[in-house]
Amino acid sequence: MTRHLLRDDDLTPAEQREILDLAVDLKRDRWKLRPLEGPQTVAVIFDKSSTRTRVSFAVGIADLGGSPLIISTANSQLGGKETPSDTARVLERQVAAIVWRTYAQAGLEEMAAGTRVPVVNALSDDFHPCQLLADLLTIREHKGDLAGLTLSFFGDGRSNMAHSYLLAGVTAGMHVRVASPEDYAPRDDVIEAADRRAAETGGSVVLFTDPNEAAAGADVIVTDTWVSMGKEEEKLARLRDLGSYKVTTELMSLAAGDAIFIHCLPADRGYEVDAEVIDGPQSVVWDEAENRLHAQKALLVWLLRQQ
Ligand code: CP
Ligand code: NVA
Repeated sequence: MTRHLLRDDDLTPAEQREILDLAVDLKRDRWKLRPLEGPQTVAVIFDKSSTRTRVSFAVGIADLGGSPLIISTANSQLGGKETPSDTARVLERQVAAIVWRTYAQAGLEEMAAGTRVPVVNALSDDFHPCQLLADLLTIREHKGDLAGLTLSFFGDGRSNMAHSYLLAGVTAGMHVRVASPEDYAPRDDVIEAADRRAAETGGSVVLFTDPNEAAAGADVIVTDTWVSMGKEEEKLARLRDLGSYKVTTELMSLAAGDAIFIHCLPADRGYEVDAEVIDGPQSVVWDEAENRLHAQKALLVWLLRQQ
């Protein structure tokens, strides 16, 4: 059966581990696996802006011997003019996989249901599972075994990143804390899914409104923009509502002494994180950005092996 990655809990704990192990291997030996040699094409579609995702998929697909086809929705028939499932039926006869950055998760689900090639969520309004594979790889590199580590997220708990940290974090057996105002708490169905997964892995989910409590003793401190793509009209309200969830040097000092700071980028210095933190010694954001390449290559190799 064709496998897709639409949300982080599409992978079992064992599958997530297998992909991360493969990513370590491919980082060590970049051109070791060439499953797309031919070359086969992978379509990478963007409804929203991107730097890291665009570059890492294009480079990664080429590393695997394939040919990336980067499609901007604005110049395609997708997005109002043609349905995701009709688009998928056209693409599947010509490409080995479809990678899509979009708004609604439902569009990705429709695309996946309509095709026999793997569909990868390259960020939706709800989840960013490719980023989480890179983040887990980065945390593993700096902190060792993921199981039992405490990761604390600050800011918009209803964002794609917060949701993905919950699902992917507990899948790895981590203790995931989310600190946000009540109105920005993670969606109930995501908390329930994360709780179910945590019960299998020994991980846990705890929500906080007090950022200092959430930071206490944490191994990994993480935040994301307060204004995700598509939320620009809410910018002023968000800057006001999320102001006390900024990651500062004071907040970092409450975490474990050897805590690391991660951020998927792009970052708004002075808003969700101070420059002293993101540009400081505990920040590993550049390793994290590089790891998009290695993690996504491992994901593509793994998905193609399931075909
Ligand atoms: N982190 C991330 O997905 O970055 P881009 O929006 O630049 O792809
Ligand atoms: N939450 C952010 C992530 C950007 C990579 C957004 O959706 O804009």
